Order: sequence, then C-alpha cells, then structure tokens
Amino acid sequence: MTEITAGPRIEPIFEADAISRRLSELAAEIAAHKPENLLVVAILKGSFVFAADLIRALNRAGLAPEVDFLTLSSYRKSKTSSGQVTILRDLDLEVHGRHVILVDDVLDSGRTLAFAKDLLSARGAARIEACVLLDKQAPRAVNVEADYFAFACPNVFVVGYGMDVAHRYRELPFVGRIVD
Ligand code: IMP
Ligand code: MG
Repeated sequence: MTEITAGPRIEPIFEADAISRRLSELAAEIAAHKPENLLVVAILKGSFVFAADLIRALNRAGLAPEVDFLTLSSYRKSKTSSGQVTILRDLDLEVHGRHVILVDDVLDSGRTLAFAKDLLSARGAARIEACVLLDKQAPRAVNVEADYFAFACPNVFVVGYGMDVAHRYRELPFVGRIVD
C-alpha cells in the first residue's frame, strides 16, 4: 500500500465544493440547450473524475447521455506537451450522426481537443461540442476553444481532481498547484 508521505505541498486553486457547485451550473447550461441522443466522450485519463461528476450533474439536470471513453496521450511523463497526440485506446461506440460532447480536464495548447474534434468529425459526428474543466489562460498552438468550461485557470501546471504529474495526485478532491 502506498502511504501518504510528506512531499511537495499542493496549494488549492479550485476547492472541492466550488467545483461541485460549478458543475451543477455547467450541467444546467448544457441541459438548457436540450441536446438529443447525446453521447458524452471522456478523454482519458485526466478527465475521469470530472466526467464522473459531470454525468451525474447531467442526470440531476434531467439528461440521460450515453458515455464512452477515448484515451489520448500527449503529455507522457513530462509537464510539457510533446506536441504529438496519439490514440492509446479508441471509442467503442459509433459516433456517426450523433451529438457528441467531448469532456476533457484542461484546454492548454489545444492540440488534444483539436485532435479529438478532427477524429469525430472524420467519423461523421453530427455535432461536436467540447466541455473542459479548466480553460488555461495560455497561448493555443492550434485554433480551438471549448463550448463549455468550468473555470478559467492561470497558466500554471495543476494537479488533482483526476489530473496528475507522473501518475500522482489524481486522487486529490481539489485542483491545485505544486509548491516546491
Ligand atoms: P493540450 O493538448 O496542450 O491542450 O493539453 C491538454 C492535455 O494536457 C489535457 O488533456 C491534460 O491531460 C494535459 N494537461 C495540460 N495542462 C495540464 C496541467 O496543468 N496539469 C495536468 N495535465 C495537463
Ligand atoms: Mg487530458
């Protein structure tokens, strides 16, 4: 068993209760557009906690989306993007003709989201939207924006609430930055 040991301090930026409140608003916003035959695609791994909370908020907002997962990689072990996005595990479901909401943790350079949008578009999705937890205030490498985001985030490397550095900190209930 991995024990909790003293390590770098994580300074919270978005606390658990603030995230929870914001997700209810976000779900209401999505539901207000009355999406039909909705498919939520969570981009793994980083979005798994966000997606789990978001789909339950969508349920409370009256929606019943189908859910699938797409595992993409661009970050590997480092804190900076390699610039290249690859599919580590593909979707199970057919997206042709469907309204898809892509769910990701962070919109940073935009490469991951642009890659996922292009992929679904090539497969004939009828409507593709993106919902991210954090819209990083960083220059995009490609021209892509999110249709929905929970929070604008300073341009610092963040962890927690599903997000990691070298596979650590995903279990934290809040989003924070590492203070060495
Ligand atoms: P982009 O392709 O540069 O927009 O980066 C998006 C992906 O990089 C996200 O799906 C995250 O998984 C990861 N990422 C970007 N910034 C951070 C961060 O601050 N912490 C953890 N992961 C991040
Ligand atoms: Mg990610």
